[in-house]
Amino acid sequence: MAFNDLLLKTLNGEKTDRPPVWFMRQAGRYMKEYREVRSKVTFLELCKSPELCTEVTLQPIRAFGFDNAILFSDILIPVEPMGIKLDFDPAPVIANPVRTLADADKLKVIDPYKDVPFVMETVKMLVKALDVPLIGFSGAPFTLACYMVEGRGSKNFENIKIMMHTEPKAYAVLMEKLTASTIKYLQAQIDSGAHVAQMFDTWAGILSPYDYEKFVFPYVAEIADSLKGAPLIYFAKDSYSFFDTIGKLKCAGIGVDWKTKLTDADEKLGRGKFVLQGNFDPVLLFGTKEAIKEQAEKILAEGRTLKGHIFNLGHGILPPTPVENVDYLVKLVKGLA
Ligand code: CP3
Repeated sequence: MAFNDLLLKTLNGEKTDRPPVWFMRQAGRYMKEYREVRSKVTFLELCKSPELCTEVTLQPIRAFGFDNAILFSDILIPVEPMGIKLDFDPAPVIANPVRTLADADKLKVIDPYKDVPFVMETVKMLVKALDVPLIGFSGAPFTLACYMVEGRGSKNFENIKIMMHTEPKAYAVLMEKLTASTIKYLQAQIDSGAHVAQMFDTWAGILSPYDYEKFVFPYVAEIADSLKGAPLIYFAKDSYSFFDTIGKLKCAGIGVDWKTKLTDADEKLGRGKFVLQGNFDPVLLFGTKEAIKEQAEKILAEGRTLKGHIFNLGHGILPPTPVENVDYLVKLVKGLA
């Protein structure tokens, strides 16, 4: 079959007949095929097996015909070799959180080929197996730092905000090492064949626009400026209040969550500067077909006014999501339902 280059054309600003469609967290527990694989191994074992990662990455492509794959892994995989004791329960748990300058000083910048070779192996296997583009990904430094400082998920991740303002040196060392590791990690995925890179900044939205601009954006910009050979999509959830700052980023695509209209996002980022990705409410996948269709059509119509649109959810798909609604929404976007 011919290679489906819809995502690459869209990110390149070329006009296409319809937007490409994929869903964040499209491989995972809502699929019985995933639960079957996962029942035999722990999540970390799964992430470290190129064969199993390749298999679960392909599952949603086969089942629903998404226009691209996303590497199966987790944003926290590269922090383990930095010196972090990591486990999943199923959410991440860190036994040795980073709290002081001495803790940050001990962390190491990773060499992705030596420290996480299984990721590059998976990328290579996937590129051979796929006839759609592969998105590689990483966490953004601030979101990774949130987990590393707090030790586990948290509603407000207040310890990192406190570190930012009371231990600025510790915060800077941590962010510099994460930034250097992330550049190497994403570049290694691109050099191994990933066609696109996405950076997830899930927790950026806990910050004020002032703190985002001063303590987070410079690191994100350094990563965007350093990567070569593939377009970058930056997704910072809950971040509309600082989309004017994000608008200064040099990258191809910006992810938008479900709380902001695509057209409002475009206006605040700088009209026509970016291809936008989003932003169907993941919870609406539990709704009726009529409700799904109504929101999808609004998003598609807004998408047509943009430089380019990648149809996606506004955040990751939830584990109990009914698969028939996933199938229906993908068909709708493709004009097949
Ligand atoms: O999109 C994909 O299909 C690729 C796979 C992927 C996973 N995690 C698999 C996963 C991606 C891109 C991620 C990114 C990730 N991980 C983010 C950023 C995106 C987002 O959703 O905001 C974050 C914040 C994490 C950290 C993380 N990992 C959490 C909070 C959890 C628990 C989530 C939950 O639903 O309970 C994980 C574990 C995880 N990562 C699972 C999967 C499939 C579940 C593990 C299992 O099978 O038990």
